Amino acid sequence: MKREDFKAAINGKDTDLFVLKNEKLEVCITNYGARIVSLKVLKDNHWIDVVMGFDSIKDYLSKDEIYHGTIVGRYANRIARGQFSIDGKTYALNINNKPNHLHGGPDGFHNQVWEVVNASEKELVLSYLSKDGEEGYPGNLQTMVTYRLSGNELEIHFEAKTDKTTVLNLTNHSYFNLNGQGTSTVLDHTLEIKADHVTPVDETLIPTGELMPVEGTPFDFRAPHTIGERIAEDHIQLAYGGGYDHNYVLNRNGEGRTLAAKATGDKTGLTMEVYTTEPGIQLYTGNFMKGLNTLKGGYKDDLRTGFCLETQHFPDSPNQAHFPSTFLSPGEVFKSSTSFGFIV
Ligand code: GAL
Repeated sequence: MKREDFKAAINGKDTDLFVLKNEKLEVCITNYGARIVSLKVLKDNHWIDVVMGFDSIKDYLSKDEIYHGTIVGRYANRIARGQFSIDGKTYALNINNKPNHLHGGPDGFHNQVWEVVNASEKELVLSYLSKDGEEGYPGNLQTMVTYRLSGNELEIHFEAKTDKTTVLNLTNHSYFNLNGQGTSTVLDHTLEIKADHVTPVDETLIPTGELMPVEGTPFDFRAPHTIGERIAEDHIQLAYGGGYDHNYVLNRNGEGRTLAAKATGDKTGLTMEVYTTEPGIQLYTGNFMKGLNTLKGGYKDDLRTGFCLETQHFPDSPNQAHFPSTFLSPGEVFKSSTSFGFIV
C-alpha cells in the first residue's frame, strides 16, 4: 500500500492515508469514509493484517462492496421503508436496499470525505458535518470520530451534536479475518457473543420487534462455537439472512464499556475482543460476498472470507419505541465507544 494511492480529490475535498502505530498494532485509515484500510497485529515477529481492504482510493470507488472498514451513518443498518416520524412529522429517506433504507443511504458517511481535526502517531480525529436534509434526515449533525491506539487495543470514540431532533446510529464496518485478510474463509473462526437474545427479522431484514432467546438455536454463541458449525442449519432466521446477519442484544450491567464478543482465528490463534458502550452488535458473516473484488495483496473477497461485528443501536429503532432510543435533540451530546483488542 502506498500513501500516494490514497491522495485524491472527491467532491473538491482531499483524501489521504494516515498511519497509527505502536509496538503491537499498526492501523491505516483514510479520511474517505473515515475507513480502516488495514489493521496489522504483531504476532511471532509477523504482522497479520486482520481487516479486509483495497490498495487505493480508486479501488474503493470502483468496487461493488462499498462498506469495507467505513464509519457507517447517519443511521447504521436498516430503517423500514426509509420512514420515521418526529413530533408528528414524517421523514422520507432514500431507499437503497429495497424496500428499506440501509447504512445512511447511497451518500451516507461511508461516501463522504471527512475533515482531519488531528493526526498523530497514536490518534486520528476526523469530523463530518452532515447537512440538514442530507439523505432525507433532519438537522445539521456534526459527528466526530476518534481512532486511538492504546496498548493492544484500537479504540473508536464517537461524539455527535445536532441542531434539530434527528436519529443516529454509528458504527465501524470492518470485515475481519483473524487468519489474515484474504487467506481463508472465517467459517472455522471461534466466536463468542455475550447475548441471550437477538432481534429476529422479517424477510427484508427489518426487526419484527420481538426479542428471540438464542437458547437452543444456531444463534447461541454464549459459549464458543465456530462461525460455520451451524450456519447451514434449517432455521428461518438463517434463511432470511443467508447466514448470520443479525443484531444481538448485549447482556449489559449498567452503561459502561462491556465485553460484547470475542473471536479467534483457527490458523493463527489470534484473538480479538470487542468492548462497547452500545446496546447491540450486528454479526454479519459476509453472506453477500461474491469474490468479485480484488483486495490488498491480490486476494479475492470470496464468500464468507470476512465477518463484521458492528457495535450499534438496534436496526429500525426510530420505528420501534421499545428499543433503546436513537433520537438526538439539540443540546444533547451523543457519545459512544468501542474497542477492538488483540491477544496474541
Ligand atoms: C451489514 C448488513 C448486511 C449488508 C452488509 C453490507 O451491516 O447487516 O445486511 O448490508 O452490511 O453488504
